[in-house]
Amino acid sequence: MISLADAERAAATLLEPAHYDFFAGGADDERTLRSNVDAFDRHRLLPRVLRGVGKRDLGVEVLGQPLSMPVMVAPTAFHRLAHPDGEVGTARAAAASGTVMILSMAATQPVEQVAATGVRLWFQMYVQPDRAFTERLVRRVEAAGCAALVVSVDSPVFGRRLRDLRHDFGDLPAGLACENMRESGTGPPRAVAFDAALDWSVVGWLRGITTLPIVLKGILHPDDARLAVGHGADAVIVSNHGGRQLDGAVASIDALPAVVEAVGGRLPVLLDGGVRRGTDVVTALALGAAAVAVGRPVLWGLTVAGEHGVRQVLELLRDDLDRAMVLCGADRVAALTRDVVHVGRCSW
Ligand code: FNR
Repeated sequence: MISLADAERAAATLLEPAHYDFFAGGADDERTLRSNVDAFDRHRLLPRVLRGVGKRDLGVEVLGQPLSMPVMVAPTAFHRLAHPDGEVGTARAAAASGTVMILSMAATQPVEQVAATGVRLWFQMYVQPDRAFTERLVRRVEAAGCAALVVSVDSPVFGRRLRDLRHDFGDLPAGLACENMRESGTGPPRAVAFDAALDWSVVGWLRGITTLPIVLKGILHPDDARLAVGHGADAVIVSNHGGRQLDGAVASIDALPAVVEAVGGRLPVLLDGGVRRGTDVVTALALGAAAVAVGRPVLWGLTVAGEHGVRQVLELLRDDLDRAMVLCGADRVAALTRDVVHVGRCSW
């Protein structure tokens, strides 16, 4: 494995087709899925030279937490479909790489077990129509030591994924379940529900029940970014859910600059969707992201070699980012300014 594309190719040969398609696929015609990657390809870098970049520091701080690099693990469902190591394997790899793992509400291992690896863990959730259950889950993830709540706001309903429909893929195989949907960690798991009635008041409701930082995931419109600030969110993630929800939604990297401008430095802006190369990370950081997260590449690494495979994917990205930074003349993340990103003709 010398690139993330290798990881995907290898995973495709190892996974059952229905499971590969569940991980790889997007909603409807997969326009947004493709454009997340294509949009990065439209960006070019305008490197600086002779900048004395013999020593680099890739570290960043997000919500008061130091990361060894500005690449985090995005929340993705069902890690035990990829490999028996499951979310625990992913967590060990993220911990070894010195970064944050965002654990999906649809994880196949309990948050307590994942947290026991010592990883810095944020918990992603869909606020459930049953608010009492949601509150108990918040207590549970607080007790497990999660450091932030990531609330996905791009999923009032479930996106229509044709690959899953064609395979008739819906339920987890016997023996696997969404372990964090069990009441108090035992009992039968509930189904993850989506709530189209959610509105901005949910942020205040969450603020009232927890002191954890609240991160809104799935912001694309700059007005929503302003509303997030106004309602007291602690961070936003520019994301279209990896093209799995609204097909036709703008590519994440194309939405980023307007969100960064709207937020005006009042809270950190993170991004996920289509990050496959160190140069993609450089582009996002230079356009104002505090860090990025990767979804599918982690699943491919996990499929290929469990914990070790995820570690390889994260270290490939670190190595790639370091090289991209030095070639751009940046010795630290703060040195990546907007002028190194170039779309269209050079005008100076
Ligand atoms: C996801 N994503 C996701 N997001 C979320 O908030 N909760 C979830 O449970 C899941 N589950 C999930 C499963 C799978 C298989 C994928 C591929 C994605 C979306 C994820 O957090 C992230 O937004 C995208 O994966 C980022 O895009 P890339 O890096 O996969 O291109």
